[in-house]
Amino acid sequence: MDAKSDSPVIPRQRAFQILEHGRRREPASRVVDWLLVGLIVGNVAAAIAQTVPDIAERHGAGLQLFDRLSVLVFAIEYVVRLWTAPEHPLLRQYGALGARLRFAATPLMIIDALALLPLLLELLFPASALIPLTRLVRFLKLARYSPALATLGRLIASERRALLACVIIFTGVLLAAAAAMHAVEGAIQPDRLGDMPKAMWWAASMLAKIGGDEVRPLTPLGRIIAAITVMLGIGCFALPVAIIGRGFYEQIRRRDFVVTFAMVARVPLFARLDAASIADLVGMLKARTVPTGTTIIRKGERGNAMYLIASGGVEVESAAGTVRLGEGDFFGEMALLSREPRSATVTALRATDLLVLDADDFLRLLDRLPDLGARVRAVARERT
Ligand code: CMP
Repeated sequence: MDAKSDSPVIPRQRAFQILEHGRRREPASRVVDWLLVGLIVGNVAAAIAQTVPDIAERHGAGLQLFDRLSVLVFAIEYVVRLWTAPEHPLLRQYGALGARLRFAATPLMIIDALALLPLLLELLFPASALIPLTRLVRFLKLARYSPALATLGRLIASERRALLACVIIFTGVLLAAAAAMHAVEGAIQPDRLGDMPKAMWWAASMLAKIGGDEVRPLTPLGRIIAAITVMLGIGCFALPVAIIGRGFYEQIRRRDFVVTFAMVARVPLFARLDAASIADLVGMLKARTVPTGTTIIRKGERGNAMYLIASGGVEVESAAGTVRLGEGDFFGEMALLSREPRSATVTALRATDLLVLDADDFLRLLDRLPDLGARVRAVARERT
């Protein structure tokens, strides 16, 4: 590559490194992250405050100025993110335009684009009542920084069948309760239970226990139906809560920080994997942050996971001597491959972010991707 085509790549690479949330140990990246998080929170608070007439009257101009400024920053952020897309390890192969178009279609970039929408709406329809609502979309921008929000989105997507089943059960219970009440008391309370839509509203409020008190069952049979409906309602709501709750707990325990696509693709071991395999890996890897001095692996223990260093560094103390490993390196593979005890003690040299792959997932991955297996085995052989 000649010097001329080289020059724009360096600042773009740097901008990508700073904006990419995966670089958690990089000071510039953290500063930008915190500034953006602060701006998002401030902006949402301002959007809420602006709907209170008193505050709007006194501080309207200031709040509006703040809104304009933060939108300007979000717009610059969006454009710079798009500009850096060709640096994304998974998009590099598509060329500048292809990478940018593909990047623009990712969920986080769609949220970023939606966050700019209110400005357009304000310019086109200044009096629209939707503006305060659309401003609150900016809250979703926090998904980039929160393992919890990112996890929730992934969970809803992966449990969609179970959740759809809950909706179907809820609808069935609602229809049955409404039909029963309409049959029993429709003639006695025609203004409240006289037709199915009215009876369905009654059933929905009983199931959710939001009021419903304004319609009191007048007959013994009506009361029995109401009691059964309330009980079924508890079950209907407990079901999705249990589904999401269990998955949420399991996932959140696994993640000290957000595992990004770029973070996984940057590990040299995975550099040649296709996008689908990387997506699989993002779901499999746990994220653990360990403070300086933590013993991650103890010599002689049974091996149950392999570790990749996302940032930071470790020291390996084996019979052969001491070796330092840094960002992008992996360790803990030998015990998994040989099924023998750990060959060395590994300690964190500084605060270190680790991506952890469980033994079962590791062995399954090597089965599925023989190339990757060969590379891991080659490194392990070299280390012995
Ligand atoms: P394992 O034996 O599972 O646990 C200790 C890990 O330290 C080992 O896997 C390797 O990943 C790593 N290790 C051991 N010896 C060396 C070495 N000489 N150089 C780099 N890493 C090593």
